[in-house]
Amino acid sequence: TPRQLCDLELLLNGGFSPLTGFMTSADHGSVCADMRLADGTLWPIPITLDVPEATAEKLSTGGTLALRDDEGVMLAVLHAEDIWRPDREAEAQAVFGTTNREHPGVGQLLDRTEPVYVGGRLEGLQPVSHYDYKELRHTPTELRAAFTKLGWTKVVAFQTRNPMHRAHQELTLRAAKEVEANLLIHPVVGMTKPGDVDHYTRVRCYQALLPRYPQKTAMLSLLPLAMRMGGPREAVWHAIIRKNHGCTHLVVGRDHAGPGSDSNGNAFYGPYDAQELLSKHEAELGVTMVPFKLMVFVEETDSYTPIDEVPEGKRTLNRPGTELRARLAQGKEVPSWFTFPTVAEELARSHPPRHEQGFTLLFTGLSGSGKSTLIRCINRLEEHQEGDIEVTGVKLDENLKNVDKVRSEVGMVFQSFNLFPHLTVLQNCALSPI
Ligand code: ADX
Repeated sequence: TPRQLCDLELLLNGGFSPLTGFMTSADHGSVCADMRLADGTLWPIPITLDVPEATAEKLSTGGTLALRDDEGVMLAVLHAEDIWRPDREAEAQAVFGTTNREHPGVGQLLDRTEPVYVGGRLEGLQPVSHYDYKELRHTPTELRAAFTKLGWTKVVAFQTRNPMHRAHQELTLRAAKEVEANLLIHPVVGMTKPGDVDHYTRVRCYQALLPRYPQKTAMLSLLPLAMRMGGPREAVWHAIIRKNHGCTHLVVGRDHAGPGSDSNGNAFYGPYDAQELLSKHEAELGVTMVPFKLMVFVEETDSYTPIDEVPEGKRTLNRPGTELRARLAQGKEVPSWFTFPTVAEELARSHPPRHEQGFTLLFTGLSGSGKSTLIRCINRLEEHQEGDIEVTGVKLDENLKNVDKVRSEVGMVFQSFNLFPHLTVLQNCALSPI
């Protein structure tokens, strides 16, 4: 699954050190109950490999399991040490503090996780491949080497799953200044909360923001993590992961890795629960937390300030991310007090107004009902007998230039036998003749 692939990448590249494989039941039980591995090492989130009963039936302890990506490439071998059926309700309660499926981590665990877990050591064969933003992806070893090369001895990491706006920039600038460290913008590009802005758009936003930091003080690197939205426990996990990536500090603001509220409006976690839990463990972890209260916009000074530092009587503004996403969906502008123009531009580019968005037509019907014939006619592979064919103002007649124009803008894939089963839908569309 996409989540297992994210976990596997960080297990193989050392991002989840000291883990060297998927957890066994001893580690899993101990992590759920005490936030520690069976050997006592602090570790807050279960990292488990779930498989269907049918796979489990064919596997026994001491056996091996080939782990492949969705294109069938074998990435690793799991040496099965333990095969068991966990109590997932109990896991949800222990890790997330609730069994309410509206919590995205709980929903994933209870409804989209297979019933059997297989634990054991991993033997890596090939790194997980990525085709996007390769130059911004670094293993922990590569990132540590980059810091050494840059002469950075103190690095404060900024975890995020959202586009960065003015509040975030102020937060990161203050954090770096406060602890006299360099800044690593370390956004999650694996899996985040359903409904978040896609990572392609977010990376363009981060790139648009980078020039606003003092030269050579900040760096951007993408983290292929599958978030669980586990609030406090997740904050501790984020600190461990950042330590593995060579960071000395981690920014933890308001509602860090929080899943928001349930349908009754009750927040799953308190706004500063994550700070509280991490503060208890930061010494043991060797990562220093840089905590922040909610950052709000102060109109009079045209700047962002932690809410507890706002001078009395000053008018403040704050806008939740959900409202921003609603504005974007409606093609509305993002106000300048909220974000920088270059970031707003990137967001607008990915959220064009309805009339500028593309669309998909799906022809479905019985064999012989004319689906392919219609497409063949549009493609001028077949003569139509009556009327004209016009595609967004371009008439498809004898003029082959017009046909080319339509072909350059319309992607079509014929029947399933023309699809390449080992490629994605997007790759099939890109390769399709028209
Ligand atoms: S998170 O799920 O990755 O925590 P987000 O990307 O929104 O979500 O937040 C990244 C970090 O910035 C978290 O530490 C969060 O607490 C902090 N943060 C975001 N917005 C604010 C804000 N307005 N005030 C204080 N902290 C904030």
